[in-house]
Amino acid sequence: MKTTIIYWTSTGNTEKIATFIEQGLNVGKESADHIINLKPVSNSDEADILTSDLVILGCSAMGVEEIDTSEMEPFLRAHQDLFKDKSVALFGSYGWGDGEWMENWEVLMESFGAKLETDSLIVIEEPEDEAIDDCLNFGKTLAGVAKA
Ligand SMILES: Cc1cc2nc3c(=O)[nH]c(=O)nc-3n(C[C@H](O)[C@H](O)[C@H](O)COP(=O)(O)O)c2cc1C
Repeated sequence: MKTTIIYWTSTGNTEKIATFIEQGLNVGKESADHIINLKPVSNSDEADILTSDLVILGCSAMGVEEIDTSEMEPFLRAHQDLFKDKSVALFGSYGWGDGEWMENWEVLMESFGAKLETDSLIVIEEPEDEAIDDCLNFGKTLAGVAKA
């Protein structure tokens, strides 16, 4: 069993969410051979998608309610065929909007045929207090998805 978290961040907020999700996955995993990887998208390749049972993607809101167009969107489009029927979950940090970037991203992933395994996790700016618990619980829940 393998879960890979692939993220893009500009100031580190989405990276912090990613590390809390990783902690939650490690708490929730039921088997020592459940491998959990955490990687920036700049260091990710097609094998990370192909060999993972669950791919958890993180990206902050950029542009006008968009995911990052310098690295994350090109990465996803370049590997869009690999997302067909792939178990996926999405998360990210945002600022002044209402989360529309995440809705746009969900539509993009569904257009590739990805299976969104849970409601996406969105956090305003840096995760603190209750938002940290939300990140940990998101990871714990997804550890169960990866097991199935
Ligand atoms: C160029 C730029 C564009 C942004 N566009 C949006 C946006 O459309 N909607 C929104 O809610 N926040 C927007 N933000 C706010 C960021 O999403 C927010 O600060 C987030 O916490 C950054 O997370 P990161 O450090 O993981 O990149 C934008 C920030 C920047 C710098």
